[in-house]
Amino acid sequence: MKKIAVLTSGGDAPGMNPAIRSVARTAIFYNLEVVGVKHGYEGLINKDFFPMNRGSVADIIQRGGTVLLSARCEEFKTEEGRKKAYKNMRDENIDALVVIGGDGSLRGVQKINQESEIRAVGIPATIDNDLSCTDYTIGVDTAMNTILDAVNKIRDTATSHERTFVIECMGRDSGYLALMAGLAGGAEFILVPEIDFTPQEVSERIVQGFERGKLHSLILIAEGVKAPFADLTGYNGSPGLAMGELIRESTGMETRVTILGHLQRGGSPTATDRIIASRMGAEAVEILIEGERNKMVNYKDNSIGSCSIEDSIEKVQQIDMDIYNLASILSM
Ligand code: ADP
Ligand code: F6P
Repeated sequence: MKKIAVLTSGGDAPGMNPAIRSVARTAIFYNLEVVGVKHGYEGLINKDFFPMNRGSVADIIQRGGTVLLSARCEEFKTEEGRKKAYKNMRDENIDALVVIGGDGSLRGVQKINQESEIRAVGIPATIDNDLSCTDYTIGVDTAMNTILDAVNKIRDTATSHERTFVIECMGRDSGYLALMAGLAGGAEFILVPEIDFTPQEVSERIVQGFERGKLHSLILIAEGVKAPFADLTGYNGSPGLAMGELIRESTGMETRVTILGHLQRGGSPTATDRIIASRMGAEAVEILIEGERNKMVNYKDNSIGSCSIEDSIEKVQQIDMDIYNLASILSM
């Protein structure tokens, strides 16, 4: 193996830059040539390649987003699109590829390994932390801290006005971010897609809380919550807005809704995200040097290793019920 390429794909995540830096500098340390690919899989199809040296990744460890830029590329989901990508990589003499991204991006890694001789490995990077086979995906710690900062600030105003606040977090279909930020932020209620609830029971418990002397009620709701609401179309698809309206209707209490949105994806990566990204980037290059393919770097039981791509994308990451129960006990 002489030359490897690196790209970032799907939703950006804080920590992608330290991962790119680690891939590039580890590869150069092992005397490999490194090619940066811009705009994710789209860059493979459009040959958006550039040679990288140690200086190409200088001064990026602290920056959010991704210097390689990211994209969601429909053409790469087609066989025709992928064939163009394989040809471009062959023309450039690229032997292997590191893909930094979420579950969709890892499906792309699986296809490359199945359909071409190019060896591809994945590094899990998404604020959602929704992949199996790894306890950690790059970006989740920064996103959690961003949510926590927002929750702290909202708590101040919620207490001053003795109000109920519904705060909607990202996470796609996963409740991980809402659960962890809810535990860390001391939210009264954590509503996630993995655990059934009725809006009525939440409203009743809010009233009971105020009757017991609580000065506010903070509800963290994951964007993936759908089932308890008959129809979200009137609420722009937002379970937070729906929950806020139902609480207002059934309790008559002043209730405000904050949808945190994309601010959860930005910001300088935390120390934890930088450290794990640096370790995962190096591991990805070492996996390729060992001649492996179709692997995702993972973080399990406090150590960096790897698993097969199939295992990382096929199984659904379950919510940790011990943590959910603890958050419920502590919030009473
Ligand atoms: P994320 O990687 O953050 O989950 P997406 O699900 O949007 O983001 O996936 C990112 C990109 O990965 C897609 O735009 C597409 O280019 C590629 N991709 C997703 N699913 C597949 C698939 N089944 N086959 C090939 N490529 C895929
Ligand atoms: O996967 C990361 C994520 O931020 C999800 O939490 C969210 O559902 C989605 O991406 C939003 O995607 P977009 O940036 O395309 O609106």
